[in-house]
Amino acid sequence: MVPVPRRVSARSRASASPELPGPDWVLAGRGLVDGHLQPIEIGISDDGTIVALGRDLHAPERHDVGESVVLPSATDLHVHFRDPGGPADVENFAAGTIEAALGGVGLVADMPNTRPAVTDASRLEEKRARVTGRTAVDVLLYGALTATSRVDQLAMAAGALKLYLSPTTGVERPPTRAEIPGLLQRAAASGLPLTVHAEDPAQFVLEPPPTSLSDWDRARPWTAEAAAVEEVIAAAPRELRLHFAHVTSARIAERIAKAGHSFEASPHHLLLSRASKVGPRAKVNPPLRSEGERAHLWELFALGGIPCLASDHAPHAASAKDVAFPLAPSGMPNVETMLPLLLAKVRAGELDLARLTAAAMDRPSRWIGQPRGRIALGHRADLLVVDFRSRRKITAGDLHAPCGWTAFEGYEGIFPREHYRAGERIVLAGEYIGTPTGVVRRPEFAA
Ligand code: DOR
Ligand code: ZN
Repeated sequence: MVPVPRRVSARSRASASPELPGPDWVLAGRGLVDGHLQPIEIGISDDGTIVALGRDLHAPERHDVGESVVLPSATDLHVHFRDPGGPADVENFAAGTIEAALGGVGLVADMPNTRPAVTDASRLEEKRARVTGRTAVDVLLYGALTATSRVDQLAMAAGALKLYLSPTTGVERPPTRAEIPGLLQRAAASGLPLTVHAEDPAQFVLEPPPTSLSDWDRARPWTAEAAAVEEVIAAAPRELRLHFAHVTSARIAERIAKAGHSFEASPHHLLLSRASKVGPRAKVNPPLRSEGERAHLWELFALGGIPCLASDHAPHAASAKDVAFPLAPSGMPNVETMLPLLLAKVRAGELDLARLTAAAMDRPSRWIGQPRGRIALGHRADLLVVDFRSRRKITAGDLHAPCGWTAFEGYEGIFPREHYRAGERIVLAGEYIGTPTGVVRRPEFAA
């Protein structure tokens, strides 16, 4: 068990900072040092801060995980926890953050397209009240960028802004093209990060109704995504902290990288294509692309060319999905499986662990202004213990999403064995053992 925290006067050898207290306990295992797995020891104080790093640390208690790997917990920039509005048998903050904890995610950024959508400060306050005392991990709340007049008050309380360029669950009327430059200006002036769902609805071909994943890709083609990306890049003020959600194509990724903005790819676009046999359960926006497009996107990700990984966890009831293709809503659950799927790729030799930690932990945290995602002195001890030998086949029955299904049935996953939140163990032997003490976070750009 993790020792009961207590302050000690003994100071460790190795790289302890003179301003930090001595460690109360030490977590020893293997970790990434200069890109290679090496034995590491992490000294943690009673308030859950990393206060020493090195070898031969001394503290009253020690937890040695042997050959297992200690990683920072992940930051997921893109979840839809459907709270408020539910339905609660699909998702909510309590269940969604437990899924996150079990999947190795220590901070989730929740999208504003709930019912009602978070379009003003009072809706944001209502949502904040639903987080308090209910979440297993920390939460950052997006506000929807819909009207210039609301940006300033929304920006006082939101953690980030989200701009939808096409209609989506909960946001039926997105801003018009003419409104976009003004909205981007206001977003820039607010200082908050802005994430854009970039698909140009003028380029959708929705008649006749698409009846397969291939039809869906043709109906909302990558060119609609590319056009929206160009429009936003052209209108974005220089000082805007801009990020593009769920990029599906390596060409678009390279374009955004050239323009110097941030972006993410989601596990379903990296691992699944429109050739999937999953049917309407794999219907997502933007759509799954061809196998060739998916392979290029994966190649770019494995080369380190995609800065962030984000789940776009967007559950819907199985009964809503298992209907004729045109009637099924878009979106799939992913927050519990994102990191396990990618850790299995590391074990399979298809992905470098340092690239994965950069994309899942470090860069998303930096973009959202959070001092986390690295094993570093002064950071909170938000850590995972991963045993790369404990691979298992993903099956919905073992997962915790109330919606009860996954598009990754049968895929290999490596789930964290332990998850620490500020030095407190919240997952042990793959089981959630924490309490709902997550808090709402806002960017700390000075950090
Ligand atoms: O597939 C999607 N589902 N894409 C989105 O942009 C929204 C999401 C949802 O909220 O269901
Ligand atoms: Zn989304």
